[in-house]
Amino acid sequence: MSDKIKILAIESSCDETAAAVVEDGRCVKSNIISSQIELHKLYGGVVPEIASRKHVEKVNFVVREALKEAGETLDSIDAIAVTYGPGLVGALLVGVAEAKALAFAKKKPLVGVHHIEGHICANYIEHPDLEPPFLCLIVSGGGHTHLVDVKDYGKYEIIGCTRDDAAGEAFDKVARAIGLGYPGGPKIEALAKEGDKNAISFPRAKVNDSKMDFSFSGLKSSVLNYLNKCEMKGEEVNRADVAASFQEAVVDVLSSHGVEAAKELGYKKLAIAGGVASNGAFRAKMIERCKEAGIEFYHPSPIFCTDNAAMIGVCGYYDYINGVRSGLDLNAVPGLKIGTRQG
Ligand code: KG4
Ligand code: ZN
Repeated sequence: MSDKIKILAIESSCDETAAAVVEDGRCVKSNIISSQIELHKLYGGVVPEIASRKHVEKVNFVVREALKEAGETLDSIDAIAVTYGPGLVGALLVGVAEAKALAFAKKKPLVGVHHIEGHICANYIEHPDLEPPFLCLIVSGGGHTHLVDVKDYGKYEIIGCTRDDAAGEAFDKVARAIGLGYPGGPKIEALAKEGDKNAISFPRAKVNDSKMDFSFSGLKSSVLNYLNKCEMKGEEVNRADVAASFQEAVVDVLSSHGVEAAKELGYKKLAIAGGVASNGAFRAKMIERCKEAGIEFYHPSPIFCTDNAAMIGVCGYYDYINGVRSGLDLNAVPGLKIGTRQG
């Protein structure tokens, strides 16, 4: 038996059923993801009931595979971490029930993990030098665009957030409007490569009373207005130019906000996390702006930006060594707030 701490992690908050084994918080021994994208594509977005059913079908399989690939067993792991919020309640419940059953049967400690805190912790996987404090810009779907002051392991303070849509939601809605379908982010990114990012001047959203908050619904409306106007005038829409110009507007706002916030708060380390953080144009702009500002920039590989269980294992490890333990009454909390424990 090694004295390394091995966490089995389970994630099922949206449309990926995932399990991973993480050693000592930084070393990913396995990372199994069963994506439901092909299924939800048919409906143009995630259908919660279908997501839950698929999680039920896949959860045992991903756990088995994660243990097998890591060369571990349920007996050799030290604790079980599971996402318990935020997310779709029926989807979360599947992972939570699985984790509770395994923890009960094998008498292992159970650690409920916050999904978005997991996204932040994805940065620790490939940056062994990264330690708190740092500033993290989280850009996901489902209302989650946040600037978070990562004060310490397990200590988070939200210093800015979106007032309306999350950046990922804006990608998904614009993708739908130009007929790209679900999932929007990767499709816009691919089409944008064929377009001119300066072709259309979309607004850079500002929130008047706060430097730290974001707003993306105005930009989304402006894209929709542009498309309507073209239709009314009988003009053909260059979808690649719309994708590229829209992406440029989002990336410009996110990167300038992130860097300005880091400067204002005196942070020399800035990380990004969440699905939109896998966007190449966003990463390139962050690299450029952080370099100009003399700020160290951190980002996870794309596979650790979108939903996965490895990030839950990392976050679960730090929670575990900080003494966090969940009872067998752990429940799914769909609206769980960053930096809080509930359920
Ligand atoms: O973090 P995430 O995987 O799930 C949530 O916790 O919400 O984020 C999903 C969001 C979706 O809105 C998706 O369109 C967006 O991330 N996304 C992207 C890219 N890949 C995923 N947005 C822009 N470019 C991408 N390559
Ligand atoms: Zn996520």
